[in-house]
Amino acid sequence: MSDARPIGLMDSGVGGLTVLKETAALLPNEDILYLGDSANMPYGEKTNEEIIKFANQDIAFLESKGVKAIVLACNTVSSLVDHVTARVPLVSIVDAGCAAVLESCNKGKVGLIATTATVRNRTYEKKMAALTSDVQFISHGTKHLAQAINDNIEEKKALVKYIVNAIDPILRQHGISKILLGCTHYPIVKETMESLYPMVHIINPAEMQVKDLIRSLNGAEGLNPQKTKGNIKLYFTGDASNRQSFVDIANILELPYNELKHVTLDAFEKEE
Ligand code: DGL
Repeated sequence: MSDARPIGLMDSGVGGLTVLKETAALLPNEDILYLGDSANMPYGEKTNEEIIKFANQDIAFLESKGVKAIVLACNTVSSLVDHVTARVPLVSIVDAGCAAVLESCNKGKVGLIATTATVRNRTYEKKMAALTSDVQFISHGTKHLAQAINDNIEEKKALVKYIVNAIDPILRQHGISKILLGCTHYPIVKETMESLYPMVHIINPAEMQVKDLIRSLNGAEGLNPQKTKGNIKLYFTGDASNRQSFVDIANILELPYNELKHVTLDAFEKEE
């Protein structure tokens, strides 16, 4: 048995391309459809009701394209995974984040930087508490970092103050030497973070999320049998500047993709 349907990935914008990069590297024969809802970014500053509405639209769009599973390459949406509706398996990055932390330590305090909504929902804390009481997250919501990465990626220097504002408050808490990147935009500037904080171990959960995806597809049984390289198609919402962000970030990440296409999601809005 095998499954030739494409894999879906979604985020509010370009952030989830960091997860796409790992997916393409670990599953090179899979066809992948990526949706970045840039028109509605930042999800992290929206109400839970709004985030759930956008997430349901994103999921419905990818399902309409016939995907076999959807990787929620967005921590903000994953923090509300129990409230969204899907017909195909969803792979949450919050689960992957907890697993990635436990792979690197089994006790103590770990910093979590994430969007305002992800921190507000406390899903990371709840998931971790269900796994162990020995690891505690010290979380910090970063209102501007994802947007700043989106807008200023060509000027890394301009991003330093946003990175420092996100990480410094956590480091002031005693004994923290590990920080989980709880927003998929942040790995785009992981190297800058590491040069600013060489003593801190910065954890990107993307690879763990791809392993979770493979498990949710039942390993080889759910994979595409083709021997050739998979096709990678990127969809974005929004305007020409959103398209440019996709081109720029895909270049920076050296991401192989075959197509970049504009879409609108209104047809996927559900009646209340
Ligand atoms: N990349 C998204 C995440 O992982 C958040 C960015 C946003 O606020 O839209 O949470």
